[in-house]
Amino acid sequence: MGDYDSTPSFYTTDETFEKYLGQTSYYLALQDNVVELVSHAAPNRIVEMGSGTGQTAIRLTEETPATEVLGIDNRETVVEVSRTNADKLGLSNLTFETADMTEYVKTVTTLPEMVVLLYSFHHIPDPLQQKVDFLEECYTALPEGGHICIAETFLKNNARDTAAAREIQTRWAHRGVEAFASTFWSALDGINSAAIEHAQEVGEFSRDHELEAGDNVRTRDDEYLISRDWLVDHAHSVGFDVLLAEPVNSLGDGIVLLEK
Ligand SMILES: C[S@@+](CC[C@H](N)C(=O)[O-])C[C@H]1O[C@@H](n2cnc3c(N)ncnc32)[C@H](O)[C@@H]1O
Repeated sequence: MGDYDSTPSFYTTDETFEKYLGQTSYYLALQDNVVELVSHAAPNRIVEMGSGTGQTAIRLTEETPATEVLGIDNRETVVEVSRTNADKLGLSNLTFETADMTEYVKTVTTLPEMVVLLYSFHHIPDPLQQKVDFLEECYTALPEGGHICIAETFLKNNARDTAAAREIQTRWAHRGVEAFASTFWSALDGINSAAIEHAQEVGEFSRDHELEAGDNVRTRDDEYLISRDWLVDHAHSVGFDVLLAEPVNSLGDGIVLLEK
C-alpha cells in the first residue's frame, strides 16, 4: 500500500477537510445521495469502509438513529480524529476502528447488511483483480439481501492510452475549477478584502489539491480509479444484482448500489 498521508485527495486533519474535500460541491452531493439511499434501506447495521475523519459515518448515524454504525479506516490518525468528532456529538451508536478494509472483509464472519464506500473503493491498489477479490469477499460475507453502496469518481473507461490520459487531464481541470468555486463561496463570510482574500486562499488550496489528485489518477499513484461500466460488469460477475449505477454530476462522480 502507498503513502496515503501524502496523497492529495486524502486529509488527515479537520482543517484539510474543512478547507477542501468537505466543502466541495461534488463530495457533498455524493454524501447527500448516499445518506438518502441508505436511509431508505433503513438497515440495522452499517459499516463505512475508508471512513476518513468520520463525516459521512456521522451523517449516516444522525439520519438513521436506530442503526449501529461502524466506520473503519486503515490510518490511526484519522480514526482518532473521527472518534473525537463523534464524541463531540455524543453519538452512542457510532464506533470507529482502525482496520484495512481488504483484510477486514476476509476476516469478518458476517458483514452488516449495508456496506458503504465513499471515495475509498479506488484506493484498493492495482492490479484490478484486487478490486474483484474485494467484491467477491464482500459478496461472501454479506447476508442475503445485503447491500454495498459504492460512491466514487469514475473514469470514462479503463484504457491506459493517450486519449484516456487526456480525458483525465480535462476532467480534473474541470474538477479543479469546481473545487475552487465551491470552496471559495463556502469560505466567504463577509464583503471586505480580508474575507475575500481568505476565501481565495481556501479556493486555491482546494483547487491545487484536486489538480494534484488528477496527476495521481493519471499516473495511477495511490488513486486507482475505474469506470462505472467496469464496476457494474465485475459486480455482476461475482453474483451481485446491480440495483443502481447512476452519475451524480458531470465530473465523473456517481453511485453504484449492489444487492446480494
Ligand atoms: C477520501 S477519504 C474518505 C472519505 C470518507 N469516506 C468520507 O466520506 O468523508 C479515503 C479514505 O480511505 C482510507 N483508506 C484507503 N485505503 C484503505 C484501506 N485499504 N482500508 C481502510 N481504509 C482505507 C484512507 O485512509 C482515507 O481516509
